[in-house]
Amino acid sequence: MTPVSEIARTQATGSSPMLADLVSWSSSLSADRTFVREDLLGSAAHVIMLARSGIVPPSDAHPLRHALLALFDDAERGIDIAASSLEEDIHMAVEARLTQDLGPVAAKLHTARSRNDQVALDLRLYVRNQAALTLRQTTNLVVALSHRAELEQDTLLAAYTHRQRAQPITAAFLIASWGFQLLRAAETVAFALDRSNELPLGVGACSGTSLPIDRPLTARLLSFPRVTGNALDTVADRDFALDWTWAGTRVLLALGKLSADLVDYSTREFGLVSLDGEISAGSSMMPQKKNPDLFELVRAQSSRAIGNVVSLLTLVKGLPSGYNRDQQEDRNAILSTGPLVQGALHTITTALPHVHFNPAAGHRALADGFTQATDLAEALVRRGIAFRDAYRAAGALVRLAIDSSSALSDIPEETAKTVHPFFDRTLLQSLDPKDAARSKESPGGTGPRSVAAQLTHLRNRSAELAFLAESIPPLATIARTLALEPLQTP
Ligand code: ARG
Repeated sequence: MTPVSEIARTQATGSSPMLADLVSWSSSLSADRTFVREDLLGSAAHVIMLARSGIVPPSDAHPLRHALLALFDDAERGIDIAASSLEEDIHMAVEARLTQDLGPVAAKLHTARSRNDQVALDLRLYVRNQAALTLRQTTNLVVALSHRAELEQDTLLAAYTHRQRAQPITAAFLIASWGFQLLRAAETVAFALDRSNELPLGVGACSGTSLPIDRPLTARLLSFPRVTGNALDTVADRDFALDWTWAGTRVLLALGKLSADLVDYSTREFGLVSLDGEISAGSSMMPQKKNPDLFELVRAQSSRAIGNVVSLLTLVKGLPSGYNRDQQEDRNAILSTGPLVQGALHTITTALPHVHFNPAAGHRALADGFTQATDLAEALVRRGIAFRDAYRAAGALVRLAIDSSSALSDIPEETAKTVHPFFDRTLLQSLDPKDAARSKESPGGTGPRSVAAQLTHLRNRSAELAFLAESIPPLATIARTLALEPLQTP
């Protein structure tokens, strides 16, 4: 094991090193390993910038860059380059490793840099990639939902309000509603991506540097479209991380609603969907059970994501300006959000083709006509009756059906006419559930033309957001371009 280095110690810091078990207790190294590749690329870009700005000679920058990119390749291959390190974080571990491998030249790397801007950089690069990955997965699922909806245009079922049957809709419309919530979540992920997409490096510990650094160059090397605006704010800023955890939570909330619907709809009580064995779980005791565990787990997982938002909020609340070591406690919230969200997206995307609607059950739920009572009232409105009067007349017919233990759709025309003279055969036709669903062509409605427009919107906007995700280069691509960058200003 490499003993703790004394890199960040001066005579002023104190003659004796921190007690080993307290270094170990306060170290973030185990969590930081997740973004070791980000740390190495940040350093490689930094050293290129130092050379091009004339701060470090190219002859020194060359071995530094080479060593950093070689370590990056190791990390890409799964080698833990900080395996034996006892340092307090990944930044120190990398510097200690370079010192060991290259000798005194390693002492030049940290010029015009602090771990405060370095950790902000690593986290931003990490969040940016996580957001891009999540954005791709989320928009793919929105598109998959839109295609599935195409297949369910003639599948009828009831929409629910207060979990009571409300009005006839198509399954296509229901699926589109899931797509819309998920698309809004994707917009939030895109926002988080954009907020993380600023270069913090070069702000130093808290107030910048007197050395002639070139922050726009470092930004370009790492594919950041802009640099952060104020050094003191930059080292304290974890807003991008908050935005990310919130965005991830929004995706899980959207998947949670879809899952809650499917948990209900797959019960024998609803019977609206059936789930293939490939996505069902059994019971260890009850031989007849076929359980929707996957959807229950997805529904439950937003609680952990919400926990991450709350833990970050309470962490930053009350912190004073500048960097505070408290910020190291951001790690779990930031690092656990991505895998949680991506796992749930993968699960729902995989499960979707194994969910089958049951048109007969949907039809049974609508056949008695009660969910079409509003359509009956609207038919009266079309004949010039004021809505409130039409509503009362339809209500009276519903009452009559209930009192005579009959379906609304089974009331004979002559009886209906005793309630309102306009209740003739044509008007009672509006009790047909298919007609009821088809006729709601108001924008956003369940009618076929309206749903088609909704699906087009879902696909078009998803494509735009996916394009944004594609603009973020993978780390390996950044590494390849850094290897080729000149170390002298041409
Ligand atoms: N391990 C620290 C963190 O993760 C890195 C920054 C430490 N800065 C400092 N001045 N101690 O936040």
